[in-house]
Amino acid sequence: MLLQLNVILIAILIAILSTTKAESQVAQSLPGCPDKCGNITIPYPFGTQKHCSLSEAYQVNCKNLSVPKANFKILNITVDGLMYGLLPVAHQCYNSTGSINQLQHNIKLSRFRISSTLNLLTAVGCHANAALKDLKDGSYISVCISRTSCNGLENGSCFGQGCMQVPLPFRLTKFRLHAQRVTTKVGSWSFNNCTYAFLVQKDQYTFHETDLDKMHNRSFPVALEWTVGNTSCKEAKKNKNSYICKENSICVDSLVKVDQGNPGYTCSCAKGYQGNAYLPHGCQDVNECEGPQNDCVYGVYGCLNTNGSYTCSCPSGMLGDGRESGSGCTHIEAKSLRSFLYIGEYILVFLKPISLISCYNFVCPVLS
Ligand SMILES: *[C@@H]1O[C@H](CO)[C@@H](O)[C@H](O)[C@H]1NC(C)=O
Ligand SMILES: *[C@@H]1O[C@H](CO)[C@@H](O)[C@H](O)[C@H]1NC(C)=O
Ligand SMILES: *[C@@H]1O[C@H](CO)[C@@H](O)[C@H](O)[C@H]1NC(C)=O
Ligand SMILES: *[C@@H]1O[C@H](CO)[C@@H](O)[C@H](O)[C@H]1NC(C)=O
Ligand SMILES: *[C@@H]1O[C@H](CO)[C@@H](O)[C@H](O)[C@H]1NC(C)=O
Ligand SMILES: *[C@@H]1O[C@H](CO)[C@@H](O)[C@H](O)[C@H]1NC(C)=O
Ligand SMILES: *[C@@H]1O[C@H](CO)[C@@H](O)[C@H](O)[C@H]1NC(C)=O
Ligand SMILES: *[C@@H]1O[C@H](CO)[C@@H](O)[C@H](O)[C@H]1NC(C)=O
Ligand SMILES: *[C@@H]1O[C@H](CO)[C@@H](O)[C@H](O)[C@H]1NC(C)=O
Repeated sequence: MLLQLNVILIAILIAILSTTKAESQVAQSLPGCPDKCGNITIPYPFGTQKHCSLSEAYQVNCKNLSVPKANFKILNITVDGLMYGLLPVAHQCYNSTGSINQLQHNIKLSRFRISSTLNLLTAVGCHANAALKDLKDGSYISVCISRTSCNGLENGSCFGQGCMQVPLPFRLTKFRLHAQRVTTKVGSWSFNNCTYAFLVQKDQYTFHETDLDKMHNRSFPVALEWTVGNTSCKEAKKNKNSYICKENSICVDSLVKVDQGNPGYTCSCAKGYQGNAYLPHGCQDVNECEGPQNDCVYGVYGCLNTNGSYTCSCPSGMLGDGRESGSGCTHIEAKSLRSFLYIGEYILVFLKPISLISCYNFVCPVLS
């Protein structure tokens, strides 16, 4: 009875303590800097004004949602190294005399890269071909080809009939996107005079038969990866002035392989912290006791938050580490009862040769 009262008192006390702690909104920008363009959050190292971003490359123009030396429109930026942007559709169309009307796109992404795992190169049309040419070193290497036919169109299906998607082998920063018709025969597909090529985030495009001649002015979301610096983490840490990751964070090397230089690194909050690892005091302690992240037997009541972690405890009158994954909490009485049973077991083992073999076999699995 006394024991239960104790638990309830602790519960009430902790409940009061945790509700009085104000829910502080974690800052995403430098002090005094706007952290939004309209309704889009712009997390540091990105910024909307001079001195608000890490460098010019990360300065977002709020008017057209762009960054310098890039020609995509920003949709959103996440603090974990991803950015979503809109890219246009390239096309090539024929008229009845066979003349070509086409639009190719030179895509520039500054120092940001099209993710090779999160996007697909897509071709829409009949005998259509979508291709990408890397423009970084001036050479025209076709890195990707996606081809279609039109022998059995199916709405919602993008597996070669009217629509085809292929993954990207590289993370690109500067390339030409273009659409081509594979056959030169005019009119072989009278219902389809145009072919289209575009990049799109996985699962963000569903083919529809009517798309075959209606995609001219559309644009699609793509996922881009962003990093900071131009060295590995190991190199960056040597120079305290330019190393960007702040306290309670970890540095993550970019996985991208590039011919020249280094693609840089990203910062993320260490385990037990969350927020913006690029800002001073940006990584804030996670209160594991409030959410489901703790494995304390008595939940919030037996949980004590610490910097980067938490501890569990048992109510008075009970023993153990207080963790689901550990020894939990057991009543002291139960513990002594168990010791008593251990002694009993010992006696049984001792007596075993004499007469209690069947009893031993029966009892022991229960005791252990
Ligand atoms: C921001 O507002 C625009 C319209 O003003 C809306 O289309 C868009 O979905 C909004 N974005 C977010 C992330 O809320
Ligand atoms: C956005 O606007 C700036 C300045 O007004 C301009 O230099 C830049 O080219 C524009 N970017 C895009 C993608 O339209
Ligand atoms: C960012 O935009 C992309 C593309 O529209 C969307 O898939 C993603 O959920 C958005 N992320 C956030 C955090 O708004
Ligand atoms: C497509 O090509 C066919 C055959 O050459 C022609 O009759 C038709 O007018 C063309 N359609 C368009 C939209 O150009
Ligand atoms: C086809 O396009 C060419 C060039 O754009 C144009 O000169 C020609 O008149 C067009 N033919 C038809 C039938 O529209
Ligand atoms: C695709 O959908 C359109 C209407 O949305 C329909 O007219 C057409 O017949 C459908 N095509 C197929 C192959 O199901
Ligand atoms: C695409 O947009 C341009 C300019 O906004 C317009 O002139 C053209 O007719 C549009 N094309 C289609 C196929 O909608
Ligand atoms: C790396 O970044 C530093 C500082 O931003 C700059 O001075 C240097 O030229 C860069 N090096 C390369 C290879 O881009
Ligand atoms: C966490 O660390 C900060 C300083 O780094 C200190 O002020 C604070 O009291 C610590 N909190 C806990 C729960 O230990």
